[in-house]
Amino acid sequence: MFNRSVARSGIKALNTTSRPATRSTFIRPLSYTTARANKKNDPKNDPNLAATNKAPEGASGEHEGQFARTDESVQIEYPPDSEMPAQPVVQGRGGMHFKRTLAQFSLENKVSMVTGGARGLGLVMGQGLVASGSDLAIVDLNKAEAEEQAQKLVEQFRKENPGLEEMPNVTAHYADVANPDSVNEALAEVLAKHKRIDNLVTSAGFTENFDAISYPFDRMKKLWGVNVDGTYLFATGVAKHLMERNAPGSIVMIGSMSGSIVNVPQPQAPYNAAKAAVRHLAASLAVEWAGHGIRVNCISPGYMLTALTRKILDENPQLRDKWTSLIPVGKMGTPEDLMGAVTFLLSDASKYITGADLRVDGGYTLT
Ligand SMILES: NC(=O)c1ccc[n+]([C@@H]2O[C@H](COP(=O)([O-])OP(=O)(O)OC[C@H]3O[C@@H](n4cnc5c(N)ncnc54)[C@H](O)[C@@H]3O)[C@@H](O)[C@H]2O)c1
Repeated sequence: MFNRSVARSGIKALNTTSRPATRSTFIRPLSYTTARANKKNDPKNDPNLAATNKAPEGASGEHEGQFARTDESVQIEYPPDSEMPAQPVVQGRGGMHFKRTLAQFSLENKVSMVTGGARGLGLVMGQGLVASGSDLAIVDLNKAEAEEQAQKLVEQFRKENPGLEEMPNVTAHYADVANPDSVNEALAEVLAKHKRIDNLVTSAGFTENFDAISYPFDRMKKLWGVNVDGTYLFATGVAKHLMERNAPGSIVMIGSMSGSIVNVPQPQAPYNAAKAAVRHLAASLAVEWAGHGIRVNCISPGYMLTALTRKILDENPQLRDKWTSLIPVGKMGTPEDLMGAVTFLLSDASKYITGADLRVDGGYTLT
């Protein structure tokens, strides 16, 4: 269950002018002891010294560490599937156009597969791939949603490309990405429908917020199962297929800026570690499969407004202000911001790029 009241009380705690989440016991440093004799070097008389670690916690004010600490009172559970909001397909991005652009960016005659493609970032990235010429296999835990979105995506494509006779082949498939048997079944089904797979995007994944000590172990295992095992299983399955065909291919793993930085104020240690694993998995497999012409890259999004993040922020508006205050461009991204990045990394335009981590985060990780 998405725990509204807990999340709300967490946010209230955030807003009271910053009681630090964790208070360490003050142990007087040796240098402070000697400084006491000298009035000039007493942090009480020197605001700059009070701001150093020679002074006790709170010596320079309540704000110390305010924007750089997690707050254990923020708890957000990933909602059950029945409460997950659906998302409309993006309007007005997929039409034929006559602007000059490099042919290398085209995904014509390719078959792409997107895990977690029924909703959120995966859905919009899939739409970007179709707009760029690819056929698409949407793989998701929620097959009904995947089927509905596959249909809507083709309808939208038809509307935006009047007169075009050949429609993209967009199919929907069930898989629990954390389950090896389910992954193998999904791969076999996609191959039966599309005959081959050229590109893979692993977008199935989720985050939850508990402080590390209270994190329920079964939920942590599930989180790692979907984010890490799921990415690994699909990547190895597709690479095996490409090697059997002796064909080149491109894999994009959806990591997160959380794989490189620690988000605040919401605590999410297992998610951060899982996304760091995804990023380094991409680099490691890039090296392992480079000789087979299979490229593996990672996209690390920052805060993106999906139907799910919208629901969380509707409940916790203070979290939105906190997040945007930490992003250099001052704004969250939208799923459409990933359309170009994923198309680029799957296309020949990035033929010499492998093992890269492309951060799409409005500069969050730079500061
Ligand atoms: N939204 C963000 O701000 C953001 C930021 C950085 C990274 N990410 C990452 O992007 C990816 C997509 O996130 P999103 O925001 O679009 O989430 P989302 O919840 O909107 O969509 C995730 C999709 O994955 C599917 N899914 C979940 N578990 C699955 C499983 N076991 N097997 C198959 N499918 C499963 C869900 O049914 C859903 O359709 C995730 O890996 C997430 O960690 C998201």
